[in-house]
Amino acid sequence: MNPVIDTILSRKSIRAYEPTEISAEHKEAILRAALRAPTAGNLMLYSIIEVTDQAAKDALAETCDHQPFIAKAPWVLLFLADYQRWYDYFLLSDVQQLCEQRGEELRKPEEGDLFLACCDALIAAQTAVIAAQSLGIGSCYIGDIMENCETHRDLFGLPTYTFPIALVCFGYPTEQQEQRTQSTRFDRKFIVFEDRYKKLDEDEFEEMFREIQERFHTRKEHPEGIHNSGQLIYARKFSSDFAREMSRSVRAMLQAWTSDCLGT
Ligand SMILES: Cc1cc2nc3c(=O)[nH]c(=O)nc-3n(C[C@H](O)[C@H](O)[C@H](O)COP(=O)(O)O)c2cc1C
Repeated sequence: MNPVIDTILSRKSIRAYEPTEISAEHKEAILRAALRAPTAGNLMLYSIIEVTDQAAKDALAETCDHQPFIAKAPWVLLFLADYQRWYDYFLLSDVQQLCEQRGEELRKPEEGDLFLACCDALIAAQTAVIAAQSLGIGSCYIGDIMENCETHRDLFGLPTYTFPIALVCFGYPTEQQEQRTQSTRFDRKFIVFEDRYKKLDEDEFEEMFREIQERFHTRKEHPEGIHNSGQLIYARKFSSDFAREMSRSVRAMLQAWTSDCLGT
């Protein structure tokens, strides 16, 4: 259709990389693209940490649900939702005095601010992903960066009003990854609605999951007691140890973000 759409439609997650380094020129182009992403109020409510230290990458390969390919990725970017920078600037700008003059309490970053900053960080991340794809550089998101917040805070010196929302690994795809078929998506009629949200009924779920269910039944072995693809995804993903750890860790970060401390 056009090269941008072609780039987007041809993307798949890449989890094995050629050992080739990404050139400084290409890194620069990807970061420039990321920083041009739309941002709420033009505030740039995010920070990006380039993880260059191999020891840190090795640590992430463990703390992000044991995914060894993270340690082998030539380029790793950590996207943080970041209100710390603005909050520090507000304090430097004597907003405390302003609030006293106005007889108001100083407002600190709250839940809404966090969600907005997460939007900013993720939009920047996806812009980097597409820019990389256009240069033949593969990528893979690591959502597990939201786990083990205590370790990640120490590892990257993260202050209270930051939130590690996405880690992205970049690198040139190996031949095997290049050849791998793209994953499928659900039919758009189950995802895109007109005017009102549509709760799916049993028949629609049956149709939506038909292919997945067929694949489930052609598998030779099924985990103990699991009879269908819904149970499989529930057991393997939704109620897995990593999902529970992610929730614990996110709760701890939310608690710190919304508690009354000064957030420094
Ligand atoms: C928020 C988010 C978190 C993800 N976390 C991981 C991850 O921890 N490990 C991984 O291998 N892939 C991860 N992925 C990649 C997805 O598994 C992948 O996008 C999905 O299976 C669809 O495949 P595709 O990207 O090749 O089309 C993540 C993707 C997103 C958007």
